[in-house]
Amino acid sequence: MKIMVVGGGGREHAIIKKLKENSAVDEIFALPGNGGIAKDATCVAIGAKEIEKIVEFAVNTGIDYAVVAPDDPLVLGCVDALEEKGISCFGPNAKAAIIEGSKVFSKNLMKKYNIPTAAYEVFTDMDSALSYLETAPIPTVIKADGLALGKGVIIAMTRDEAKDAVRSMMAEKVFGKSGDQIVIEEFLTGPEVSVLSFTDGKTVVPMISSMDHKRAGDNDTGLNTGGMGTVAPNPYYTDAIAAECMERIFLPTIKAMNAEGRTFKGCLYFGLMLTPNGPKVIEYNCRFGDPETQVVLPLLESDLLTVMQATTNGTLSETEVKFAQKNACCVIMASEGYPAAYDKGFPMDIPEAVWDRVYVAGAAVKDGVLVTNGGRVLGATAIAESLETAVENAYAIVKTIRFDNAYYRNDIGQRALQAGRN
Ligand code: AMP
Ligand code: GLY
Repeated sequence: MKIMVVGGGGREHAIIKKLKENSAVDEIFALPGNGGIAKDATCVAIGAKEIEKIVEFAVNTGIDYAVVAPDDPLVLGCVDALEEKGISCFGPNAKAAIIEGSKVFSKNLMKKYNIPTAAYEVFTDMDSALSYLETAPIPTVIKADGLALGKGVIIAMTRDEAKDAVRSMMAEKVFGKSGDQIVIEEFLTGPEVSVLSFTDGKTVVPMISSMDHKRAGDNDTGLNTGGMGTVAPNPYYTDAIAAECMERIFLPTIKAMNAEGRTFKGCLYFGLMLTPNGPKVIEYNCRFGDPETQVVLPLLESDLLTVMQATTNGTLSETEVKFAQKNACCVIMASEGYPAAYDKGFPMDIPEAVWDRVYVAGAAVKDGVLVTNGGRVLGATAIAESLETAVENAYAIVKTIRFDNAYYRNDIGQRALQAGRN
């Protein structure tokens, strides 16, 4: 079989490595992939948003199955365009991907179908938003409606900060059209849990839970990033909470999307907060999380391609999805300065012995040498019986990898270890 994976980050590398375990897979193409992914797949210089070129490539190459991993192409209708040409895909169509593509859509969906989430108001006009903020409870949370490279959420600790955020989104248009509408919502507290799930629109199968570490610095300080590390499972996510989430959040979401004529197939990511008033949805993503995928998929014991195809074919209820009862930890090595400005182009030394545990996110090959080429450069994942050992081993891998300007957090997994002890 010829498989195509759209995207080029650590998440895509983890998907590709897992897909390769299936002996029916002859060749995997990554569009565009990256210098590290090139070790495991054939990289093709087509960007993840170049829908027409992606479709043309898939048709000309005779792709048997396509995995569209990032949010942008999904929201832009990459799956629709591929399916139109008869190419079977993993991922939601544009109508369903709106669950991530528009915060206003997802908030209104949750309200309509009684799915627990933060209380909110929607604004299309800046003056109304500013006047609402005169009396809104503080802290408050301001969200741009559309995709904003993961930066469209501002937690405002003061009224002035909240107003500045509204002005930057609605007047200065720092996120472009994504700021035409905004959501202002209640500030929630509690541990966060990422639950990725497989769904064929009828059945929803949650994957093992995970915990992201979004801030750049140790002890959750500094700027928000795409994610600096993950552990799985998430110790806060007990069996009782999982059962409650299935009943009050996961199944109602699948049903709600069906009722709206927007059947969701693929990976639906539930970003949850375990508040004192029960689990609530912070966000939906229409795709695998990054770097959640780098801890979740290594724990998957079932064949990924089989499970993915079951979501496409509507046979998920008959398909086994089994996870190892182990722990995983992924530590992201970034370029010093990320998520702000950083230098790149530094040669990377990844020992062959750890290669199978490394997921490359931002690297290119220059004159035959692998060099850094992004903010997040790679993730190192270790699996062990205990979380403590997984964390220790992930850092042991990190210490064998060298490139100039390398930066990583030193406390990935510490919060989870603490929670596990309580
Ligand atoms: P998002 O881009 O939607 O993942 O939001 C980024 C981060 O902002 C989340 O992971 C949370 O830590 C935080 N956040 C989002 N919404 C809220 C909220 N209503 N209350 C508290 N924190 C929030
Ligand atoms: N790690 C968070 C995300 O993928 O959105």
